[in-house]
This record gives sequence, C-alpha cells and structure tokens, in this order.
Amino acid sequence: MRTFTESASVEAVLERMANCNDPRLKEIMASLVAHLHAFVKEVEPTFEEWLAAIQFLTRTGQICDEKRQEFILLSDTLGVSMLVDAINHRKPSGATESTVLGPFHVANAPVMEMGESISRDQKGEPLLMSGRVLDQHGEPVRNALLDVWQASADGFYDIQDDRQPSMNLRGLFRTGDDGRYFFRTVKPSSYPIPTDGPVGAMLEALGRHPMRPAHVHFIISADRCEPLTTHLFVAGDPYLESDAVFGVKDSLIVPFVRHDDLTEAALAGIPTPFYTAEHEFVLVRR
Ligand code: BEZ
Ligand code: FE
Repeated sequence: MRTFTESASVEAVLERMANCNDPRLKEIMASLVAHLHAFVKEVEPTFEEWLAAIQFLTRTGQICDEKRQEFILLSDTLGVSMLVDAINHRKPSGATESTVLGPFHVANAPVMEMGESISRDQKGEPLLMSGRVLDQHGEPVRNALLDVWQASADGFYDIQDDRQPSMNLRGLFRTGDDGRYFFRTVKPSSYPIPTDGPVGAMLEALGRHPMRPAHVHFIISADRCEPLTTHLFVAGDPYLESDAVFGVKDSLIVPFVRHDDLTEAALAGIPTPFYTAEHEFVLVRR
C-alpha cells in the first residue's frame, strides 16, 4: 500500500478507488481528485483559508431549500453552468443557441391562446412578441410548445414577489401549421440574481455586480426536435457585456422596438409607449 506524500497524493487516493465498479464514476472522481490536488498544490492554502472554503460551502448548502438552489447559483456565477450547456448543446450552424435555464422556471404554467397576454397585472410597458418556430431546413414547426417566463418590469419573478398574481408573466403557447407564435407581455428589465446568500457575498468580495441583462425565457419543444432552452435579450441593455451568469450570446440579442404612435397603439388596444420584438427560433430535427 502506498503511503500518502505531498508528491504522490493523487496516486494514493486513486489506489483506494480500485474496487469501484462504475467506470464513469471512477473516471469522474479520478479526474476530480487530480484537478483538486493540482489546485491545492498551486494555491497552497493556509489552514484558515481551507476552513473558510469549507464554511463557504457549508453556508451554500444550508441556504438551499425547495425554492432556493444556491449551488446552482454558484455554478452559474462561476461559468460552469454555461460550460456544461455548451458541451451538451453543440448545434449545427443556424440553429438557435441555448443558454441557462435559471432557477425561476415553474412547471405547468397556464396554457394560453396565441395573442393573449402573460401579464396578469398589466404593470409595465406593453410588449408584443412574435415570430416563428422553424426547423434547420427552414420548415415551420407545427404544434411546437413555447413555455415562456420572465421577470416583471421591476425585476422580480412572481415566485419572488408576493405582490404579483400567481403565474404572472408565465404561459404556454402552441404553434399552428405555420409555426407562428404571438403573445403580449410587458417589457422586462435587468435584475439582480439573489444576493442575500454566500454567492452574493462572493460576488461582492470579487468586485462583481449581480445583474442579469433584461430577457425573456423560452423552453421550446416539439415532436422529433431537440428541445431548446434559451432567452431573448433586450438589445441595448447595459449589462449585456457583463451578465452575472455569462448567459448572453450575440445571436440571442434582439431589438425591442419602441412605438409612440397613438393610432398603432389604439389598434392594438394598448397604451403608448409600447414595444415589439420579433424572432425566429430554429430547432434541430432529430
Ligand atoms: C434567470 O435568468 O432567471 C437566472 C439564471 C441564472 C441565475 C439566476 C437567475
Ligand atoms: Fe431570468
């Protein structure tokens, strides 16, 4: 049996995994140990620094509950979530790019008719979103399900904010034969990710801000197509270059066009100013 030394620390731990009969687990844990030991050898933490790291991870676990997932937030803010997403969604060119799911998706949002508004309190500037769902050959995808959600004009999701009606700014829409979608909502704003836990403290200590640029979330699924989890970002948002979770991709930045024309607004039955945003989503057929 090998004795544990500073120079042969990795080998000493790997030897103890010899009886693991799950080859993938063995591969992952061997790599984790090798990288972790290399990190410790590079950084040479003091005992106090090692303890501070343990306490940070302990606090991260302790703040998690059914609604709060601080470990995912840690993964998001360290760029790990986007890296895992990139590795698992290498798409053909032309296909809509994916981005982070985030912690604010709620299953079973209300099923809505095309053209309906997902804003259940009408607070904010009206926004009309429309476009088509296509496949990589340019054919409309019929019967695609669009699961849409976003933060309010003041930057909170309904599940974070008791003042909003339940299921505010959430809805499910199904495309017809033409692949078109159209719904009404309100213009989203940029917002901070939760900062009242250890991840917030880490960002502060690193001189990083917690803001995400304004966006609308989508999960789009259809028979025989790869599901797509993505956002559309509001062009011109001041945080596009420094998203706290690294979720921005140029192809997902869309102009949200302002309209001040009273006649146009009256025709749409909404006040001015209102905004329009259009985007074609391209799914990959399996
Ligand atoms: C979001 O966009 O909802 C989100 C994504 C990652 C972390 C926090 C929030
Ligand atoms: Fe979001």
